[in-house]
Amino acid sequence: MGAHNIQIFDTTLRDGEQVPGCKLNKEEKLVIARQLELLGVDVIEAGFPVSSPGDFAAVEAIAAQTREATVCGLTRAVENDIRVAADALRNARYPRIHTGIGTSELHVLHKLRTTQEDVVARAVAAVKLAKSFVEDVEFYAEDAGRTDNEFLARVCEAVIKAGATVLNIPDTTGYCLPSEYGAKIKYLADNVRGIENVTLSTHCHNDLGMATANSIAGVINGARQIECTINGVGERAGNTALEEVVMVLRQHPDLNLTTGINTKLLTETSAMVSHLMQMPVQANKAIVGANAFAHSSGIHQDGVIKHRATYEIIDPQEVGAPDSAIVLTARSGRAALAYRLQKLGYAFGGQSLNKAYASFLVLADCQKEVQDHDLHALVEQEKLVA
Ligand code: KIV
Ligand code: ZN
Repeated sequence: MGAHNIQIFDTTLRDGEQVPGCKLNKEEKLVIARQLELLGVDVIEAGFPVSSPGDFAAVEAIAAQTREATVCGLTRAVENDIRVAADALRNARYPRIHTGIGTSELHVLHKLRTTQEDVVARAVAAVKLAKSFVEDVEFYAEDAGRTDNEFLARVCEAVIKAGATVLNIPDTTGYCLPSEYGAKIKYLADNVRGIENVTLSTHCHNDLGMATANSIAGVINGARQIECTINGVGERAGNTALEEVVMVLRQHPDLNLTTGINTKLLTETSAMVSHLMQMPVQANKAIVGANAFAHSSGIHQDGVIKHRATYEIIDPQEVGAPDSAIVLTARSGRAALAYRLQKLGYAFGGQSLNKAYASFLVLADCQKEVQDHDLHALVEQEKLVA
């Protein structure tokens, strides 16, 4: 059977940009949108047009600039939001309006202070209005992760009838277990009439560190779109990280799920977003962190020097990262020291390596990392005492 294509919906410029301190201006958003298109994302969620004149202008400019990807604008299930989004998207080649409303008991009773019947009616009205402007309408059931499955299925069925083309099932609070989120997607796939004519989408937050696992559980169970952000930026603990889900699918061809992402651009896209948002990427971040391909303990270094795949499941070149690094610390072994010395043009072996290694350990115990200039000095010192 042929592989299923998973649409990558990037919301760095909308959900990602909601993070305090990460605000981007229009020019910065245009630069990121251009990079996202090069990266090969299917949908760019460009912003929430009604939220501010600046966001409206950014969505409008991204809509005019983008030729390959769908450009999406967020709205609440509110008439003015939808009219404003339609206006901002008017020059998009492939426009999408993303509208929705809270569906969990907590949202219905305590945020919206209304009834389930009213929520269904508002959802249907919003989708119908959006549909009068654009063909492609995505509906989100906010807090779907904590919404009763039967009610969620009722809402989904109603918005499909109203014309929705994509159903977004957000785990807004990052609460679900992967098994639970996967089962929710499967329940909808099996029980909602008309579901075969629309795309089910995952949208997972990372409050318990499970956003990537939940998104993957979603696509294994029938979702065909993943909503995510570069570096996993987003509210609180963030959203699903684009680079992670893309590489999970790539490294597991057995899943038979592919994306159109040019993975060689992942590292530079991560660096661009980190720089423009002034949001550093943690060193141990999967795929794009500074240490993602760095080896510092003796056992691992010895293995990697003999055969890269002993401790590396991804070739750094596949994600556009520099080559793997053998970092010298007090936990490094002789093999790593000899390897790094050889890279600098020094051949040490046998007794000479043992001696150099003893001096190296004295130095390494006093500093976090031994650098090339330290090695040159160490070689000079070994010559003097030889
Ligand atoms: O997390 C969420 O529920 C959202 C929706 C607005 C799509 O971001
Ligand atoms: Zn979200």
